[in-house]
Amino acid sequence: MSQTLKLEAAAGSTKMVIVGAGSVGTTTAYALLLSGLAADIVLIDINQARVEGEVADLGHAAHFTHTRVRSGTYADCAGATAVIITAGANQKPGQTRPQLVAANHALFASIIPPIAAASSPDTILVVATNPADVLTHAAVRLSGFPPYRVIGTGTALDTTRLRRELGAHFGISPRSVHAFVVGEHGDSQLPAWSLANICGMRLPEYCRQAGRAHDEAEMEACAKRTRDAAYTIIERKGKTNYGIASVIVAILEPIVKNADAIMTVSQVGTYAGVEDVALSMPCKINRRGAFQEVPLPLDERETELLRRSAESIRAMIMSVAA
Ligand code: LAC
Repeated sequence: MSQTLKLEAAAGSTKMVIVGAGSVGTTTAYALLLSGLAADIVLIDINQARVEGEVADLGHAAHFTHTRVRSGTYADCAGATAVIITAGANQKPGQTRPQLVAANHALFASIIPPIAAASSPDTILVVATNPADVLTHAAVRLSGFPPYRVIGTGTALDTTRLRRELGAHFGISPRSVHAFVVGEHGDSQLPAWSLANICGMRLPEYCRQAGRAHDEAEMEACAKRTRDAAYTIIERKGKTNYGIASVIVAILEPIVKNADAIMTVSQVGTYAGVEDVALSMPCKINRRGAFQEVPLPLDERETELLRRSAESIRAMIMSVAA
């Protein structure tokens, strides 16, 4: 069977629900529509006029991919392969993600229970609303779903950004750079430098083989540009939407295709000894959800940085869970 037919077969019964018709939600709907991964896309928003306008516009694009796009209600979560949650306030220029926690946690307290109640036993929640790690934890608590069925976009976007920075530095495709950002989707994130590699060679070895200096300062500059990317973009255009929307679709693909792809996504667990916290580590993603099956052998410094990241997320969780 051709790849196209396989995709259409997979998409045939695939319904995705996107909660929130803001810039991230609508860009995700458009990216998902173009991907051909879903036969049905349902967009939900409290602003009915906005969602009707977005659906009408998206419908003219859906013409070319035989995808059905419509507005809906939480009842449409029944039979959904995934419910993608983008609703909530987003960062304004100069604002940090943690500053959104109170408002967006309150929103989750009102929307997650009805979403969970309407969802099917195999529906997966994908959480993109910031602060993504705290809200991934909240979505597990408020839905009652097992942690593997609640996937936070987490540092999947930061990993993409770091690979792009390193690809530019080394003059190779970002997809040929194997480096992960782990921890918080936020200021306490950390690159797992000890495991980063190109062609199976750790970066210092790759540089030796390539006859070039391994520039530690430039590596840290790449990490800083990665960590600050959202602030830089938001200062200039007032939001981010294309990167996160593409990452959401990249997370949905192994779910639809049951592909066991490994991505750094946020999940509730115990990290560096800190219990009951959500942060990103490499997870295997398939139709059942996300699974951390192999611990990442971070070095001592990275493990300490991960512990600090986990502690800072835990403090935010405690600030709203009370
Ligand atoms: C960003 C938002 C999604 O990093 O947190 O672009």
